[in-house]
Formats: sequence, C-alpha cells, structure tokens
Amino acid sequence: MPTALVTGAASGIGRAVAEHLLDGGYDVLSVDLRDDGPGTPYAADLTTREGNAGAVQAALDAFGGLDVVVANAGVQHVASVRDFPEDRWDQIVALLLTSPFLLAKHAWDALAASGSGRFIAIASAHALAASPYKAAYVSAKHGVLGLVKTLALEGAEAGITATAVCPGYVRTPLVERQIPDQAKAYGVSEERALEEVILQPHAIKRLIEPSEVAEVVAFLAGPNGSAFSGVPVTMDLGWTAR
Ligand SMILES: NC(=O)c1ccc[n+]([C@@H]2O[C@H](COP(=O)([O-])OP(=O)(O)OC[C@H]3O[C@@H](n4cnc5c(N)ncnc54)[C@H](O)[C@@H]3O)[C@@H](O)[C@H]2O)c1
Repeated sequence: MPTALVTGAASGIGRAVAEHLLDGGYDVLSVDLRDDGPGTPYAADLTTREGNAGAVQAALDAFGGLDVVVANAGVQHVASVRDFPEDRWDQIVALLLTSPFLLAKHAWDALAASGSGRFIAIASAHALAASPYKAAYVSAKHGVLGLVKTLALEGAEAGITATAVCPGYVRTPLVERQIPDQAKAYGVSEERALEEVILQPHAIKRLIEPSEVAEVVAFLAGPNGSAFSGVPVTMDLGWTAR
C-alpha cells in the first residue's frame, strides 16, 4: 500500500488531500497541531525542529516507509511591513519554508527507497506574485518554490520528484479568517473585501474548492505525475496570466 505524510491535515486543503489519498488506497499520516486529522492522526508543532523530525519518524514507525510527503501546513498574517510583528515573521517562515525543508531532509532516504518518491509543497500563487500586507507569506512561498527546484535536481537520480502546487484563493478557514483583516487593512466592509480585495486578482471570479487542489495533488503523487518536477503547478483562475 502506498504511504503519505500530509501536514496541516486537520483543516482545509490538507484535510481534503489526506481524505483523497485515503480514498485512493494510501496509508496517510495526518500531521497537525491537533491529532484529529483523517487516517492516522499525529500531533506536532511544525514550527519546531523536533515537530518535523517526529512527524517523519511517526510515519516511518507506522508504515515502515514513505512514498509521498505533502508539506501543506500554513498560516497567514496581514499587516504592512512597517507594522509587521517580528515574531509572526519568524513563525510564518518556520512553518512555510523551514518545515518543508526539514520534512524533505528527514524523509529523504525513505523517499529514495520508495523508487518514486514525491515531495509536494502546497505553495500558492503568492509563490509567483506578491500582494501588499503579506510580506512573510509571500517571501516564504517564493522561498519554498526555490526549495522545490533544488529538491528536484538533487532527487532526480533517486527517482524523487518535487513540485509546488500554486493555487489562487481556496475556500478554507485560512481565507475566511483573512476577510476581516483585509477589510481593516483596506478600510472597506467585509463583503467588499471578499469581492474587491480577495477575488480581485482572479480573472475568473470564484474561490477554488479544496477538493480541486486534492485532485491535483493525487495526480502529482501518482504514476502519471512523474514528469512534473522542479516546477510550480499553477491553478490560480488566471491570476498570474496578467
Ligand atoms: N486557502 C487558500 O486560499 C490558499 C491558497 C493558496 C495556498 N494555500 C496554502 O495551503 C495551505 C493550507 O491552507 P488552508 O487554506 O487549508 O488553511 P487552514 O487554516 O484551513 O489549514 C491549515 C492547517 O495548518 C495547521 N497548522 C497551523 N500551524 C501549524 C503548526 N505550527 N504545526 C502544525 N500544523 C499547523 C492548522 O492547525 C490547520 O489545520 C497553506 O500552506 C496555505 O498557505 C492556501
């Protein structure tokens, strides 16, 4: 049975990915702050080195190997650079950039032993384009694309591929929580913040569903995804076409 570790699997995109992989016959370790993800839940704080090392070890202990790592856990903070809290910068870089690095590092030998190891980061359209008031998130997402490119080159000979899925806005609690912050930052109502700020960059004016991202991850994890490596896999409703 193929095996996968999915981070941030208690909510939103990560939960949809974990459920989709379970439906596809994978054993899945669902890592999150709370141990209530689908499949085999595991609690870890992925802003810490121990949390990342422990999560990979838990997958190896539970399944005896690892074919797929989906580095998905993420948080957002909306503030101008001038007012950006330094602790939030550190937390966001730790979770969005350092955690994927540590997961790849600790899972490397297992992914190589798999023969078709897959490292999939859930990055963002913000790995390719910036928005104001999201300095830490945009910087870390651009960074994780660089990590994925490096992993792709280092992993090629061992059969490991690495990709960065880059969605536009997805209907999850992370986006729902941003609406009041964006309304405040732009001085508009919450309704206008959704329509005029959040959906503004999408050429196609809708939110993406978590299940649509899960389908793409399952494709990349499967045999037909093997030609994708070192690239952003962009699904952004036309955002970066501009
Ligand atoms: N929602 C979007 O519009 C969107 C768009 C592009 C990319 N993304 C990316 O997709 C990923 C998932 O986002 P989502 O929208 O599903 O968010 P979400 O808030 O629904 O889920 C994120 C999960 O990460 C977990 N998490 C947070 N801090 C953690 C920590 N320190 N250790 C372990 N787990 C932690 C949370 O508990 C939560 O379950 C993120 O990397 C996000 O940047 C989201």
